[in-house]
Amino acid sequence: MGVVALVPAAGRGERLGYGMPKALVPVDGVPLLARAVRGLLASGRVQHVVIAAPPSDVDTVSTVTAPLAQAGGAVHVVAGGAERSDSVRLALEHALREIPDTSIVLVHDAARAFTPPEVVRAVVDAVAAGHPAVIPVLPVADTVKQVDANGVVVATPDRAVLRVVQTPQGFDARVLLRAHESGLHATDDAGLVERLGVPVVTVPGHQDAMKITTRFDLAVAEALLARPGG
Ligand code: C5P
Repeated sequence: MGVVALVPAAGRGERLGYGMPKALVPVDGVPLLARAVRGLLASGRVQHVVIAAPPSDVDTVSTVTAPLAQAGGAVHVVAGGAERSDSVRLALEHALREIPDTSIVLVHDAARAFTPPEVVRAVVDAVAAGHPAVIPVLPVADTVKQVDANGVVVATPDRAVLRVVQTPQGFDARVLLRAHESGLHATDDAGLVERLGVPVVTVPGHQDAMKITTRFDLAVAEALLARPGG
């Protein structure tokens, strides 16, 4: 059973304002992407990682990530697409074409560079147990409001049934391919699969798997590293 992780890392990352793709922004000297790939391989469940890089940075990303390949883990780099979903689809097509026995696929944002390996294991194990789509989630700490176009509150969903979604999201490879070929649109891969009518199950996520989007998030990441044992 082959487990392949797809890492869409082709965004420009302008909100961080570093003048380089977000995936290459270093935290304590190590690029976010390198940290994300390291975490995937450290799970012991992932045999191949396919990174979708900004088309103009394929060589740089290959150089940064080549040293991460370890016994039993290979790193591939392909050119990403215009939107995140295009980058995922290009990486998925590469995996299905080039990596024999690809049966479980994870989709993991490079921006979630500090995702603990136990979250990766929990997702893979749930897919291997027969769930075609699995996502790591956290409870919602804040009350969430639905508003109209004028910012006026129209509803207050019960917080107890809401979850914040993280990555890696795990899928039966054929189901993810079907979702990407469907022409449907969603803000995450599980959303696409859900629209096919496939059940999506949840496993516990982790606070460290936060998405690094802003300078504030980078400061939090540096604080994570400064923890004892960080
Ligand atoms: O911009 P945002 O943080 O929502 O992007 C989520 C992830 O998708 C990032 O890791 C980013 O590099 C990736 N992405 C991509 N291809 C794009 C746009 C974003 O792989 N065209």
